[in-house]
Amino acid sequence: MNMNILEKTDFKNLGEKYTGKVRDVYKQADKVIMISTDRYSAFDRNLALIPSKGQVLTGVSKFWFEQTKDIVPNHVLDFPDPNVVVGKKCKVLPVEVVPRAYMTGVTGTSLWTLYQKGMRDFGDFTLPDGMHKNQKLEKVVLTPTTKHETHDRPLSSKDIIYGGYMTKDQWEKVADISLKLFKRGQEVALSKGLILVDCKYEFGITEKGEMILIDEIHTPDSSRYWQAATYEKRIAGGLEPENFDKEFLRLWFKENCDPYKDEVLPEAPAEMVEELSRRYIQIYEQITGDTFKIETGDIEKRIENNLKKYTIK
Ligand SMILES: Nc1ncnc2c1ncn2[C@@H]1O[C@H](COP(=O)(O)OP(=O)(O)OP(=O)(O)O)[C@@H](O)[C@H]1O
Ligand SMILES: [Mg+2]
Repeated sequence: MNMNILEKTDFKNLGEKYTGKVRDVYKQADKVIMISTDRYSAFDRNLALIPSKGQVLTGVSKFWFEQTKDIVPNHVLDFPDPNVVVGKKCKVLPVEVVPRAYMTGVTGTSLWTLYQKGMRDFGDFTLPDGMHKNQKLEKVVLTPTTKHETHDRPLSSKDIIYGGYMTKDQWEKVADISLKLFKRGQEVALSKGLILVDCKYEFGITEKGEMILIDEIHTPDSSRYWQAATYEKRIAGGLEPENFDKEFLRLWFKENCDPYKDEVLPEAPAEMVEELSRRYIQIYEQITGDTFKIETGDIEKRIENNLKKYTIK
């Protein structure tokens, strides 16, 4: 295997390992060590390995945690390696909050998919007839979904409160914080020439009972970005907005197989994998304004070294 790709890790003495879709998470008594791999996941499965992706995700999250820490405290304790964040261990709230500013998406729970199927009443908001794909919404909406169920399920505020997912106070706080984070995200993104289209937040409760932002924030995996400069023109011309998120590889799989049903998936074309890697790096550079440093050498070895201080004796 290519030394410069990280597929998975298998570290001993770092804590109990949980293999997420994209990250390997080692859980200790009070902290989580989250290692971003280069796994590329969509349709709830691993589609390919994308060089530099794990490093991009960690770096972009780092940037945004810094940019939003005045709005809500976050789980960050340390960034000991370009692919790793160490976070305060939390009780994860069982709802993912998804703010959306545009009518778009291709997955089963996306707004455009549901809208096309005729859905207009989303519980907390309704949408008028006659909207088209990629159109800007009147105002930002929140579309929370369940976490840890086989498939994400859309929830309304009522579902969240009466379904016992969160208390009314918790949900009101989470909703308020999410809108503030998203507004900050849109403003900062726009200053970099980007539209923050939608994203996903996760929140947790610390040992002391404090609600904090966990997981990742405004990464190209948890968010959708479009280039602001060309948006109007492309929409007017009936084109898709200029994006460099993972949509195009997702679309390729949709066109070349049934990613929800097929047991074995076709292998993504090498040039598409390289293109996606370039896009991840490009988005890192556009968002942070820093030049991306492609790490050479064995990523797993480097991580092992950088995590020595977190070894459990
Ligand atoms: N501070 C934290 N404390 C506890 N768990 C956390 C914290 N931050 C993130 N997590 C959890 O770590 C995991 C990150 O891995 P990843 O996103 O790859 O998993 P995933 O496949 O999306 O898992 P899930 O479906 O559970 O979200 C998620 O389950 C996330 O909820
Ligand atoms: Mg996740």
